[in-house]
Formats: sequence, structure tokens, C-alpha cells
Amino acid sequence: MTTTDAPWWRSAVIYQVYPRSFADADGNGIGDVPGIRAKLPYLHRLGVDAVWLSPFYPSPQADAGYDVADYRDVEPLFGTLADFDAMITDAHELGIRVIVDLVPNHTSDEHVWFRAALAAPPGSPERARYLFRDGRGPDGNEPPNDWQSVFGGGAWERVIEAEGQPGQWYLHLFDTRQPDLDWTNPEVIGEFHSVLRFWLDRGVDGFRIDVAHGLAKDPEMPDLDGRFPADGQAKLGHPHWDQDAVHDVYRGWRRVIDEYPGDRVFVGEVWLESNERVAEYLRPDELHTAFNFHFLRADWNAESLRSSIDESIRTNHHVGAPVTWVLSNHDVIRHVTRYGGDDVALGTRRARAATLLMLALPGSAYLYQGEELGLTEVLDLSADVRQDPVFLRTGGKELGRDGCRVPLPWSGSAPPFGFGPGPDTWLPQPLFWASLTAEAEEADAGSTWSLYRAALAERRQNAALGDGTLEWLDAAAGMLAFQREPGFVCVVNTTSETAPVPAGIVGELVLASDPTATATVLPPDTTIWLTT
Ligand code: GLC
Repeated sequence: MTTTDAPWWRSAVIYQVYPRSFADADGNGIGDVPGIRAKLPYLHRLGVDAVWLSPFYPSPQADAGYDVADYRDVEPLFGTLADFDAMITDAHELGIRVIVDLVPNHTSDEHVWFRAALAAPPGSPERARYLFRDGRGPDGNEPPNDWQSVFGGGAWERVIEAEGQPGQWYLHLFDTRQPDLDWTNPEVIGEFHSVLRFWLDRGVDGFRIDVAHGLAKDPEMPDLDGRFPADGQAKLGHPHWDQDAVHDVYRGWRRVIDEYPGDRVFVGEVWLESNERVAEYLRPDELHTAFNFHFLRADWNAESLRSSIDESIRTNHHVGAPVTWVLSNHDVIRHVTRYGGDDVALGTRRARAATLLMLALPGSAYLYQGEELGLTEVLDLSADVRQDPVFLRTGGKELGRDGCRVPLPWSGSAPPFGFGPGPDTWLPQPLFWASLTAEAEEADAGSTWSLYRAALAERRQNAALGDGTLEWLDAAAGMLAFQREPGFVCVVNTTSETAPVPAGIVGELVLASDPTATATVLPPDTTIWLTT
């Protein structure tokens, strides 16, 4: 149960805005900060507690803004600092908190530090902010080790030295245009404390920390030697993920954020195989919260959902941290498509059911823009419009993440669906989104938007929802039933058969992901909320 003096982030519903694709105020086909500001009333109507903005800082956009060239300004494509200030003022007036994205693992290659590093010689203080190393082999023309970029290919790039000769290599765990910082360097540590203060002083309510498990590297930089599969889930002992030294960085950050009033929050992006290791980032003197990707990865069946829920609650409660739940973000396939593949109707049923399940669980939840409209992954983008470095660096072997980043449909019956005043959108929108615009769905009581709005409204006024505990109730195979106190039960049918509500559960229907559900019978792939 949520107590009134508990910090807001223990139970908040936080909506991720991906600025390029949210709303375009100036008509250039790319979303911007004034666009976000103009849509705040929409988010208020939806009923979210906070927004998290993906990066909007000056950036050459080699990784859609996760390549930051200046941590203290706004990318001109997206607006100005004054636009940001106006947006956050409006958001706060509407009671919406604002979390910004901090990208500490790497900068852009256009950051002033990296330019200085390229201009300076090996061994210089300018190079010591990054991870420059000599190559292997007689001429140093082999990379320093066998580490691989998350986006495909090797993780080292060789530079040309001032005399025009090939020289040292620098580490980039992501794109070549995202050089990794050296987090053993006190200057790097001091700089990020100052960046935190810059945004805290501007009134932000918290930070989402990009690749939070990546900052510290094993100083020996040993070869991987095939010991770790490249599946994105970092395993124990990995030399560049989840190194113990990273925790000191967050202890330092926590001291900074704790100086500020108003329950500011950190949420870490920590992709690790082990829940226990994720929980270590959530010790009382480190981060407040972290994304829970195990739930996102769980298949649509009762068993795997339940085990991921149990495991997440068990490990987080051990360190006193609330669990966060998330089904979609800008890096993964939208959950309608993840659960239903080509079958949009099936995917939509399951996605709606999954959302009601998620919003009934103890803790806080993250929504990704457009999921409230039931948007699908756009799978048929042509190669010439794709922009994700994952697509480009794997030569198209991996489609990458553009399919979940297509600009939102706001209104009207044809592209650009009210995205902006101009005719363009930076990625093309599918024609069938005409029935999925915000305008159409807000006017339709049976839409996915209306389901989200009703669920969020219920969360706000029902003391059983949000932070707290959960008690499982007996249910048949393929079903989940649990109780929240006081007087709330959630029942999920993950099977393709209609099923009765488990014996002994009696209550009044509050909300259902399928309009034909009742307080006693669940259609396939359906979740219901009952007050008891
Ligand atoms: C995180 C971001 C992703 C980005 C990567 C590199 O995983 O969520 O979008 O590409 O970090 O910054």
C-alpha cells in the first residue's frame, strides 16, 4: 500500500518521451522540445505522474542523441534551453515530473574533450579522459583486445596521429562515434557531478542513467576469448559490464542528488543476467531504482511472468528498493508485436492484458510513447530510411530499433497524422495508423488509450495499487491471480481458452482488457481488475 509520505517514485507511472518522434512543433519532420511542451495537456489527460525524456542535447545524432556533444545545452534541432525551461515549468504546473537522460559511458566524437584528445599526443591528459591504448602486433595494427561493439563489429577504432601516421586505438562499446570515457579519471567524475548539478539546478526531478552497468572496465582489459555470449545480458565476471568499481561512481552521485530537496530520483539502465547483481545498484547509498528488464523479456505465459515477478520483488525488497515494470522502450520491439508477431489482433489483446497486469503490480511502471495507442513495431521500413547504427553496422543483418521509433500519429487520416505542421516525418508512418491516432482513440471509450487512462485513474485513487506487497492466489494453469491490500484482486488468463475466475475470488469488476470479460469469466489473453 502506498503511504502518503513515501517518495513519489516508489509508485509512479513514468512515460518515456523519445523527443525525435513525439511531436514536431517547427515542421521539419523531427520532434522537438516545443512539441513536447504542446502535448503536456495530453499526458495530463492520460494521467501519468512523470515523463522521462530521451536525450535532447547537442549531438550529431549518430545514435539518435545517445552521442552527446554537450551535456549542458539543447540540440538546435530540438530547440533551446529556454524551450526546455518553459517545458519543465509547464510540466510542473500540471503536476508532471521530468526525468532527463544522462549518458555517462561515452560522449560523442564531436564532444570538445574528444576533439582535444585527437589533437593531443598519446599519454596526454586529453587522451586520459578516454580509453586510448596502443594496438597489438608489430606495427600496432591489431586492436588492443577482442572486445566487440554492442552495435556490431569490433569495439576499437584506430586514430591517425598528428604526423599523419596510424596511431593509437580508442574504445567504443557502441558506435565508433561514441568513444568510452575513462571512469578512473577524477576529471571525468568531477565533470559529471557538475552536469548533474546543472540539470538539478534547472529543476529536473531525476535522471535515467544510460548503460549504467558499463562505466567501469577491468583495468587489465583482458580478451573475452569467447567466454561471454554477445546476447546483451551481461554475465558475472565480464570485463566491461558490471565491474564492482562502478558502484563508487553511483555512491558519489547519490551524495550529489541527496543535497537537493524534493525526492529526486535515479533510474539505472542495468541490463544484467542476474537480478541479484541489479539489486546491488539499488543499495540505499546508490541508485533509487533500475529498469527491470527480466519482466520485459518474459514470454506471454503465466509461468514465466510469475517467475520474473517473484524474482524481481524478492531481490529488490532485499535492498529496500521498489520494483519498476516496463514492457516497451526505444530499444526493443514494441510489445504488441513481441507478443503477437504478425497477428496484430492477438498482439493487441495480449499487450492490453500485459499492461493491466503490469499496472497492478507493486512498484512503479514505465510506459513508452505510443503504447497507449496500441502501436505496433513497424517492420517494413526500407533500408534507405533506416538510421539506427545497429542496422548500419551489421550491414542490415539486424534490423535495429527504428521500427519502435516511428513518429507518433496524433490526428487525421493520412501521414504525417498531425505529427507536425510540415508534410514530413523522419521515418515513414504506416497508413493503417489512421485508426490509431490519439485523436481517434481519445474519442473512443473502447480504445487502448481509454484503457490506459482508466487504469491510471484507478491507480491514483485506489490505495491498493502502486508500492506495496502482493499475495498470490490459487489459479489454474495458464492463469495468474493475486491480491493487493486493501481489497483488490488482479486475474490474468494467458491461455487461448475462455476460463472462469478461480474459485473463491469474488469481487466487482473495475476494469478489463477485453470488453466481454465479466467478474467471473475471462476470455483468452485477458486481465481483469476486481475490488473485493
Ligand atoms: C542505451 C540506450 C540506447 C543507446 C545505447 C548507447 O542502451 O537506451 O538507445 O543506443 O545506450 O548509448
